Amino acid sequence: MASESDVRAQLQRAGQEHLLRFWAELAPGPRAALLAELAPLEPDALREHCRRAAAAWARASGPPPGLAARLQPLPPERVGRARLCDPETRRRWEEEGFRQIALNKVAVLLLAGGQGTRLGVTYPKGMYDVGLPSQKTLYQLQAERIRRVEQLAGERHGTHCTVPWYIMTSEFTLGPTAKFFKEHDFFHLDPANVVLFEQRMLPAVTFEGRAILERKDKVAMAPDGNGGLYCALEDHRILQDMELRGVEFVHVYCVDNILVRLADPVFIGFCVLQGADCGAKVVEKAYPEEPVGVVCQLDGVPQVVEYSEINSEVAHLRGTDGSLIYNAGNICNHFFTRDFLQTITRDCEPLLQPHVAVKKVPYVDEGGNLVMPLKPNGIKMEKFVFDVFPFARNFVAFEVLREEEFSPLKNAEAASRDNPSSARRALLAQHYRWALQAGARFLDAHGAQLPALSCLPPDGDPPAICEISPLVSYSGEGLEMYLQGRELQSPFILDEEQARVLRLLEM
Ligand code: UD1
Repeated sequence: MASESDVRAQLQRAGQEHLLRFWAELAPGPRAALLAELAPLEPDALREHCRRAAAAWARASGPPPGLAARLQPLPPERVGRARLCDPETRRRWEEEGFRQIALNKVAVLLLAGGQGTRLGVTYPKGMYDVGLPSQKTLYQLQAERIRRVEQLAGERHGTHCTVPWYIMTSEFTLGPTAKFFKEHDFFHLDPANVVLFEQRMLPAVTFEGRAILERKDKVAMAPDGNGGLYCALEDHRILQDMELRGVEFVHVYCVDNILVRLADPVFIGFCVLQGADCGAKVVEKAYPEEPVGVVCQLDGVPQVVEYSEINSEVAHLRGTDGSLIYNAGNICNHFFTRDFLQTITRDCEPLLQPHVAVKKVPYVDEGGNLVMPLKPNGIKMEKFVFDVFPFARNFVAFEVLREEEFSPLKNAEAASRDNPSSARRALLAQHYRWALQAGARFLDAHGAQLPALSCLPPDGDPPAICEISPLVSYSGEGLEMYLQGRELQSPFILDEEQARVLRLLEM
């Protein structure tokens, strides 16, 4: 282990010696912890990080000048539309996706290193239960969708196939996530196919370029953004692991979308058949200021302009038909070929520009007292996962229906949108729709038929509670055999056991 004098010399070189200013007061345990935290911070990199953070903050006063003139929507030929295509085309995409899955060429990769600050929980967001009748957490829903998509691909192609699940965590989320998966027996996935790895952390920095101490014995560190993925892939040799397994295509997604379709065969098939090396799912933006990135072109090159970096004037621009010009909302579902990821990690990662997030970072003052700042006092530098899009040779976007595929859990209940209730409602509404499409009818306590969702105000609760396990249906398929012609009452839970009972009744 590095000694105090080694670490002090390193910090001197980095211009960050103040991080040891409480050394004399610390007991042996906290001293060791502080040294362990500081020793890996390479001095030149630390100095550069602090300098860049302060410089980036000084520069970053709103969106880049002239942004509007440099932007264009994506040209239509780069965009596939699940909604508007004919059934035969959609079937072809789906078939191709299933074929690749059956060949074990598809993996999913979850970005789960975020701190869930807006949701306000102290544990990883994937462990959140939004209050479904089944009490399933986001992680469980995702695990079951993987199992189901493996089963569907296997049945179509007469194979037994695997969709490995790579999960990028951070110092905050690795321990609790690993424990949660063990406690839940990996939701009946083979643990060998669930690969947890950790992204790097970076110190939070003051506006003057000094790393912040959050305790006398601890530097304020934050994950390096979801674009830390590319360093983390390299650090943990994840692409080599993929290669050994024969994985060629990777579906990368973020943890909080309750409707996420893992390894979506339609999306995978579309991207593969287009010969894309990089792709993104998008939805039509719900309103101009919606906090979603916009997939567009910047100086003619595909790019996402993040909601925090677009100006309101651009976000509100409308075309002659009244629709938003920058309407392609990023839902953080990306397609990458393994080759593309290899190129990025090998050649392009250092070219990715970090983004500046100005935050309230708790710190210890000169007297050693903890201060909870009331206004932003620190800079966190983050890379974004989509900042690799400009390096793609063939980038495509794929527009999907919001009500089928996007309902993110970002905020606590008190917020008006993207909260636990809206996520729960979106899933239950989807399942209610699926049940009606499969030929079921829901009756109230007096035997009167309940209406379809289309007859009700949007964003309201569905008229009946209907939850369908992902182990029974992945995207609404195969439900007729259980539900055709049935009269159901709320709450109706279609899990594997119930499905078995309904099958027996049919015989
Ligand atoms: C993200 C997208 C935004 C998109 C929106 C859709 C990015 C940078 N922004 O925004 O364009 O419209 O989702 O919901 O992708 N994460 C890490 N490590 C980190 C930070 C975050 O793994 O250091 C993970 C989070 O756990 C989460 C995902 O990245 O799964 C997205 O992070 P979040 O902070 O929720 O992104 P948004 O700002 O909502």
